[in-house]
Amino acid sequence: MSLAIINGSPRGLKSNSELLMRNFIEGYCNIIPRIPEQLFLAKASDLAGIPDKIKTSQNIIVIFPLYTDCMPGIVMQFFEDAYESGILNSKNVGFIVQSGFPESKHSVFVERYLEKLCRRLNCNYLGTVIKAGVEGIRIQPPSMTKKLFAAFSLLGEEFAKTGEFDRTIKDQLMGRYEFTGATIGLLKIISKTGAFNMYWNKKLKENNAFKLRNSNPYSEFRN
Ligand SMILES: Cc1cc2nc3c(=O)[nH]c(=O)nc-3n(C[C@H](O)[C@H](O)[C@H](O)COP(=O)(O)O)c2cc1C
Repeated sequence: MSLAIINGSPRGLKSNSELLMRNFIEGYCNIIPRIPEQLFLAKASDLAGIPDKIKTSQNIIVIFPLYTDCMPGIVMQFFEDAYESGILNSKNVGFIVQSGFPESKHSVFVERYLEKLCRRLNCNYLGTVIKAGVEGIRIQPPSMTKKLFAAFSLLGEEFAKTGEFDRTIKDQLMGRYEFTGATIGLLKIISKTGAFNMYWNKKLKENNAFKLRNSNPYSEFRN
């Protein structure tokens, strides 16, 4: 089986998508000892070569982070270019959408879009794997990521055997759809402590943007 994996994270090699992709490939190579083509949309130098590299693969997986309930601009650009050029025509195309918020509900809307997109691109839709609550996996200790990485490795292994995303692993990765009842109450209490902001405040400080955290750059256009 020929496979190309396209990473649509603007973080490129340092992305959570890359970590998940790496584990998927590890499992895949347990069955097919040939490393799939790996392409990064964040790498400008990769972009021109993508059509040629895709040509030789019958199976394509696009993995990307959920951005504002949808996709990063570089992924949208890739889909638009694919529509124009027809490079995905007749290929088997699957998607892995991973996101920061802990509920998988956020990704089901883009999943519907991806299915429809495949019809428009004339390719065979292999399905969408959704994994929520992924932000932070790069800094979490192995004990916290072990189960997730094992699931992605198994997903890759099964994909190499069947050319499909295994339904049971897909459901397991989908996890919690949404919080309900008492959990919401508990989360509201915890949020008052500021605990949920700690990670993101750290990121803002690292990027020298903490003082801009309440900015409303588009507020003047609101009315
Ligand atoms: C600009 C931006 C928008 C985001 N929008 C969402 C979102 O709408 N829902 C969500 O659950 N996570 C959102 N996230 C979190 C990312 O999906 C999450 O951190 C992901 O694991 C990043 O993956 P990457 O390292 O492969 O880019 C957003 C992150 C960024 C930077």
